[in-house]
Amino acid sequence: MKRIKVNLDKQSATSYEICIGHNILDRIGLVIAKSNLARHYIVITDSNVSSLYREELLTALKNVNLNVDLIEFPAGEISKNTDTVLTIIKKLINLGADRNSALIALGGGVTGDMTGFIASIYMRSIPYIQIPTTLMAQVDSSIGGKTGIDLPEGKNLLGAFFQPKSVFIDLQFLKTLPDEEFKNGLSEIVKYGIIDDMELFNILERETENIKNRSMDLLELMVERSCKIKRGIVEIDEMDMGVRRILNFGHTIGHAIEAESGYMIPHGNAVSIGMIASARISEKLNYLSSEDRNRIEHLIRSIDLPDHVPTSISMEGMLSKIRTDKKKKGDSVHFVLLKKIGVPFINGSVKEAIIRETIEELRK
Ligand SMILES: NC(=O)c1ccc[n+]([C@@H]2O[C@H](COP(=O)([O-])OP(=O)(O)OC[C@H]3O[C@@H](n4cnc5c(N)ncnc54)[C@H](O)[C@@H]3O)[C@@H](O)[C@H]2O)c1
Repeated sequence: MKRIKVNLDKQSATSYEICIGHNILDRIGLVIAKSNLARHYIVITDSNVSSLYREELLTALKNVNLNVDLIEFPAGEISKNTDTVLTIIKKLINLGADRNSALIALGGGVTGDMTGFIASIYMRSIPYIQIPTTLMAQVDSSIGGKTGIDLPEGKNLLGAFFQPKSVFIDLQFLKTLPDEEFKNGLSEIVKYGIIDDMELFNILERETENIKNRSMDLLELMVERSCKIKRGIVEIDEMDMGVRRILNFGHTIGHAIEAESGYMIPHGNAVSIGMIASARISEKLNYLSSEDRNRIEHLIRSIDLPDHVPTSISMEGMLSKIRTDKKKKGDSVHFVLLKKIGVPFINGSVKEAIIRETIEELRK
């Protein structure tokens, strides 16, 4: 099991480890038992992950004599809301969960975000552990302590920064992940290559076929590098006040596409198109070479991620979403642009005409 330390403050009170390996559920049980974090553990998981992995995880935890219960909720983003939170909280009360209890999030980003949020508010906060099971959650959402749920008015509007006590990444979970979810995570890995790691970008270009075939060795390498990149950024800017914004590369236009499609276009797909748009804007503004822009587009296509905005998505709708974002952030859209692959920067003054022209080019 590889271990990556996340150092968040001088006192180390909120620091934790990310452990990565294959088939490590038994080891996870042992490490949790040794940590003496709580007297009672409650696994929170969604219906899909529960049917695949509940027995295996519960057995691993019971084998080391942990007192453990499980709460399940219906899978999907649609569950990431106040109703599910209150339902889970009532179940926690019925199970006798108290300040000597800890939660274990077993699942994708929905489970992790919601479990972390419940942990942050239940009895004025109890500890929690992340066991991410989607590629997206393994390389992104389980690390960094952003927790939260959606409101009818928008996504992730209610939440808190609340760090997990540890993150355990078992790559075996990825074997059962549907293709669409796998691609969702790949899109975030491509993003890390573009914003921070030329070597990772080169590996993605060279090994496209093996990656699509889910080679475990490559997945381990990519997940580990991605976790280290996110760790590095979160360590500098835990509360998302500055440099952490570079993680939003491709997200400004990506979010607009996602929202304007009524969330029919998955997040990873929308971000892929957004990354191409951002690379083109960077080139138009003479920051990025056409060679680097070409490499980005080629990689995204060869990994089978989408490269165009469907014409069914309204241009005006997208621009209006981007403008709303702009208002929220004090009249400047924080566009993450590139000087070259691995060198991003934040530009607060991209003109709407350039955004419009770029989206127009990408509409097919
Ligand atoms: N906290 C953060 O920093 C952060 C960052 C990015 C995204 N997010 C959030 O993450 C969420 C998206 O996460 P996600 O893409 O993991 O979605 P998800 O949690 O809904 O999981 C996607 C689907 O895969 C299924 N699944 C999970 N693991 C599986 C496995 N091993 N085998 C088979 N099926 C499996 C789930 O049941 C679900 O149907 C969004 O709500 C987003 O806002 C949070």
